[in-house]
Amino acid sequence: MGTVDHWLHDRPPTAITADAWSLDRSHPNDLGQQVDAVNESLEQLRPWMPWAQVPADVASIGAFLRQADVSWEEGREFQFAVHADSRGADEGGAELVRPIIGYCGLHDRLGAGALEIGYWVRSSHTGRGVATAAAAALIRAALAVDGVERVEIHCDAANTKSSAIPPKLGYRLDRIDRRPPEAPGETDQHMVWVFPS
Ligand SMILES: CC(C)(COP(=O)(O)OP(=O)(O)OC[C@H]1O[C@@H](n2cnc3c(N)ncnc32)[C@H](O)[C@@H]1OP(=O)(O)O)[C@@H](O)C(=O)NCCC(=O)NCCS
Repeated sequence: MGTVDHWLHDRPPTAITADAWSLDRSHPNDLGQQVDAVNESLEQLRPWMPWAQVPADVASIGAFLRQADVSWEEGREFQFAVHADSRGADEGGAELVRPIIGYCGLHDRLGAGALEIGYWVRSSHTGRGVATAAAAALIRAALAVDGVERVEIHCDAANTKSSAIPPKLGYRLDRIDRRPPEAPGETDQHMVWVFPS
């Protein structure tokens, strides 16, 4: 549960449909799959994600997933694994493991009334609209949470793949802040996209 003085008391749903994909609350059981997804995508992640400078392992991803679980309970961060939305079963009826094709989340780090959306997509699944669909679904989920009036996407001006997404979804470029680079591909130009515009 959130702390008494925390502005956010509600939570988004633990499962959200995003076009052909589903966003499912991050779970410690994602461990093996997420290590694989990150390591397969390192080359694409490294320029933009400070945490992706070295290969992932069960220790680093395990710590991330445990923290994600705690943060969800505290109402400070809502991390989702992105899955292909086919809940298959094998011949014995057991649910098949659905590959994780990305990760996204809502973050309470902008102050009261606003959540920030973050996303990355597994390299094998980029260029198909996954991040766009996930971000669109997260806008709806965030604005349905009591007390949330605004969502933002922050990205470096050089990250053209990422910065192409918010304008497609109707965001307005509010400003470009100067911020020291945190990952090797970043400039000091930090774009702040706001919805509703
Ligand atoms: C940025 C990133 C999340 C984009 O993920 P993605 O799933 O490939 O993004 P999308 O597929 O939604 O959009 C990208 C492309 O798919 C195309 N696309 C294909 N089908 C689409 C559809 N149905 N809907 C929307 N776009 C579609 C888009 O036109 C776009 O094409 P372009 O790259 O030629 O401009 C991904 O490249 C990534 O993980 N990068 C590293 C991490 C990162 O930078 N995260 C963001 C930090 S701010």
